[in-house]
Amino acid sequence: MGKFYITTPIYYPSAKLHIGHAYCTTLADVIARYHREKGDETYFLTGTDEHGEKIQKNAEAAGKTPQEFVDEIVTGIQKLWKTLRISNDDYIRTTEQRHMDVVQKVFTRMLNQGDIYLGEYEGWYCTPCESFWTDTQVQGDDHLCPDCGRPCHKAKEEAYFFKMSKYADRLMDFYKTHPDFITPESRKNEMIKNFLEPGLEDLCVSRTSFTWGIQVKENPRHVVYVWLDALLNYISALGYLSDNDELFKKFWSDDTYILHLVGNDITRFHVIYWPIFLMALGLRLPDKVFVHGLLMMKDGKMSKSKGNVVDPYPLIERYGLDTVRYYLVRETIFGSDGTFTPEQFVERYNIDLANDFGNLLNRTSGMIFKYFDGVIPAYQGALTSLDKELESVGKASINSFKTNMDTLHVTEAVASIFDYIARANKYVEESKPWALAKDESKKDELASVMNHLANALRQCAIMLKIVFLDSTEKLFNQLGIEKEYQGYDSLEKFDVLGGEHLVKGDPLFPRLKADEEIEFIKSLMAKH
Ligand code: ME8
Ligand code: MG
Repeated sequence: MGKFYITTPIYYPSAKLHIGHAYCTTLADVIARYHREKGDETYFLTGTDEHGEKIQKNAEAAGKTPQEFVDEIVTGIQKLWKTLRISNDDYIRTTEQRHMDVVQKVFTRMLNQGDIYLGEYEGWYCTPCESFWTDTQVQGDDHLCPDCGRPCHKAKEEAYFFKMSKYADRLMDFYKTHPDFITPESRKNEMIKNFLEPGLEDLCVSRTSFTWGIQVKENPRHVVYVWLDALLNYISALGYLSDNDELFKKFWSDDTYILHLVGNDITRFHVIYWPIFLMALGLRLPDKVFVHGLLMMKDGKMSKSKGNVVDPYPLIERYGLDTVRYYLVRETIFGSDGTFTPEQFVERYNIDLANDFGNLLNRTSGMIFKYFDGVIPAYQGALTSLDKELESVGKASINSFKTNMDTLHVTEAVASIFDYIARANKYVEESKPWALAKDESKKDELASVMNHLANALRQCAIMLKIVFLDSTEKLFNQLGIEKEYQGYDSLEKFDVLGGEHLVKGDPLFPRLKADEEIEFIKSLMAKH
């Protein structure tokens, strides 16, 4: 038992979110639920990153004030998390006063201690777009603006910079003494090679070309760079530098495990700038930045700006929340990129959920009604070698589930539960209860098979609870399992069931007609 703090990126409310964002938030939810089940004191944060030029421009285009614009999108995002039953403890918006106060205080402090200095930003300026571009962004000999295609001119602008260079060596040392800080390992090597080895450049941390941001108190012409603003959410939400910093003391402490989940598009900000900002503030660094992969479509990365997205709502409505959560967790190995295809979505459902998991409950319940009047027979030990083998597969599956969850191999953890389910189905074929039932002398063996099956389902449901919110509840009800035996305390036990009265229920995951459903999902994708 310990303390656990987990965060997702705070998303830009520049447009509606898609299943890619739902992916990261769902994974975070599954991990948070695991730690709560384990008894860890857990705090789970998500939110939105609401400042910046892009949001200002999108708002203008929509004929709204930036605040009206973000309020509307944020309402939609919060509704999406509610629909996905995300168990976050707080939701931080960077437009909230509690956050803006912290950013201003931090900026002042960094300025006072000389980590931030006023300098000049030099680049290619596009007057109509009011944007600066770098040498590599402008195009051709006329230095054309990558946005509007008109020529840019060299310009200088007053700006604040953060002295990254001062902290580069300390960051490298930190990587060395904390080899688990960045996962997967390959992401760390990328960062070292691309940013640290060539020499870390100072970072421009203010802007004067637009106004939708947090003002620099000392110089109100400037707004704070959106990434310095955004990264601070992880501590502003806990009350850092506020009148009530209880949560901060509790969860940003040395005895808390601090985990940031991020997509591989924003690794640099989390493994270079964020640790350095924390060093400048004299605060502890996170234990881990876990970099997850991105969900792709056949035409590349799914993204708000491209619009090639899958909307999670119609999928949830048609296939149920558990199906969507399962697909997100199971289909793509956590840490790798994945591709969303209707074929795989339907196949996961039909094979894993309908054929394996749903069917195991169905047939077990059916047989217990048929042979034992719907009452689970008591445990009598492992009577046969098949019973023994099933128990040992169960033990291995539980071990593997825990080890994998503890090391953030979430996909593998869930796969190991399904190994147990598959083994239990095979155990039905091999122990042949229908034959045992015809032989009066085999009554004990038959009872043992039913007890083992019910208990295997119980154990799987306890593990699956962090992914399946409705169907595990239904399973416990259908098998008549008491609350006492629905948690991790009893997970490893094989001898707790006996005497429960089963309740008939609908199949958890009725089989889908694959062709029809693939067509349906394709039609959703074509709408975008
Ligand atoms: O970058 N597949 O916000 P953002 C999987 N505001 N995950 C995806 C995804 C995809 N196709 N597309 C997006 C920002 N994501 C900043 C973050 S944090 C202090 C500030 C997820 O709205 C993934 O986690 O662009 C990615 O890192 C994040 O959304 C980017 O969201
Ligand atoms: Mg993005």
